[in-house]
Amino acid sequence: MTAEILDGKMTSQKLLEKLQQEVSTLTKKPVLAIMLVGENPASLIYVNAKLKKAESIGFKAILKQLTSNVTEKEIIANIKEWNNDPNINGILVQLPLPKHINKNIILNSIDPIKDVDGLTAYNSGLFYTGQEPYAIPCTTRGIIMLLKEYNIEIEGKHVVVIGRSNLVGKPTAQAFLFENATVTTCHSKTENLESIIKTADIVVSAVGEKIVNGKILKKNSVVIDVGIFRTPEGKISGDVEFESASQVASYISPVPGGVGPMTVTALMYNLLDLYLAQNIR
Ligand code: GUN
Repeated sequence: MTAEILDGKMTSQKLLEKLQQEVSTLTKKPVLAIMLVGENPASLIYVNAKLKKAESIGFKAILKQLTSNVTEKEIIANIKEWNNDPNINGILVQLPLPKHINKNIILNSIDPIKDVDGLTAYNSGLFYTGQEPYAIPCTTRGIIMLLKEYNIEIEGKHVVVIGRSNLVGKPTAQAFLFENATVTTCHSKTENLESIIKTADIVVSAVGEKIVNGKILKKNSVVIDVGIFRTPEGKISGDVEFESASQVASYISPVPGGVGPMTVTALMYNLLDLYLAQNIR
């Protein structure tokens, strides 16, 4: 058996066309402000993709680049300016930040109603207590959107999330709980990881290492690959050994072209949600 591909690129195109139509009816263009600190080459690629996509949907997008020796105080001053600027609807601080910067202090300085990544303590607190945040993290929203587009049942299923980051693992586990799945979160200290993965109806891998393959998957499981890294040979790779996994799984998301485009799409949906929240307040 060969698994059906969860095509994030095609699904994104479809969802973004819908979004673009909605955006064209707005009286003002929603504005996304992105902050990039330092010279991480991967971050620069991601940020450029976000800026380009935002403009193509009919949003306005601005970028503030700061050098890696910037202070927390300077970053926060900039964010406060954006918080107070009524023309800016969404603020995104691209991660990772340089080591001398306290990520949580920076993220928590974003006004929650402009927190387009849903990473402030305020929005996370609402999310993890079953209340309604202004936004949830983009990769998480993108994964759920992708599964729903393929009509994949989530309720009652055993979902194994590998990874416990605030950016992907934790919010993704929470989103699946919200969808009434039974959720297990695994991480680098988990014992018997392979036998746990074997019990999963849906596997979400967000590790950055090749750890999932056909041998450890349950037959007909759904595999979501969030990992993206470069192999020593310079090839872009995900966490999942695609060839063997696709012989066992019923659905599988590829890398690239799976979760990546869905993350950007979810960011665009988050921005519209924030814009609407700000314009009825
Ligand atoms: N770095 C990698 N993914 C993300 C993301 O979704 N949001 C932010 N802010 N930084 C990231």
